[in-house]
Amino acid sequence: MKLPAIEILDEKDKRLRLISKDVTFPLTNEDKKNIKDMLEYLKMSQMDEYREKYNLRAGMGLSYVQIGIPKRIFVVVDEVNENEFENYVLINPKIVSNSEELIYVGEGEGCLSINREVEGIVPRYARITVEAYDIEGNPFTIRVREDLSIAFQHEIDHLNGILFIDRIDPKNPYKNANTMREI
Ligand code: CO
Repeated sequence: MKLPAIEILDEKDKRLRLISKDVTFPLTNEDKKNIKDMLEYLKMSQMDEYREKYNLRAGMGLSYVQIGIPKRIFVVVDEVNENEFENYVLINPKIVSNSEELIYVGEGEGCLSINREVEGIVPRYARITVEAYDIEGNPFTIRVREDLSIAFQHEIDHLNGILFIDRIDPKNPYKNANTMREI
């Protein structure tokens, strides 16, 4: 496999602060190609062989704005078994309901646009229900929990110009940790 030639913006790039715009259908061929490339990049980043070969950081999700295009699209690749991946493509996503319960990633969240260690935890809903469109423009509803729920919320934040570091209180990076469940 050859690594797709996508360039991921760094946190200092102001384009990451744009509010992404709703997508109209049908998608352009360029959009379809970019979505395919993003999925492929994430999958390869999660495979030891390619991570080492191309010196990648493992990533689970990417939003379209991270490659410089502020459209409301994100993708997530979830490794369900060793080298077996589930792909998610969500277009114009909306969170329609969420759990009361909050969770956080104990080792801290990561982002392919943030190339440094960040201390602190990010409160996220344990479960969310999201309405979105697939690449053909068909509406669907999906309910996700745990790490997928966190990944979806992280990516939807990107579509609104928000980075996970914005959700960490610099004065108290572990604020309210005792009221949430660590995963
Ligand atoms: Co990110």
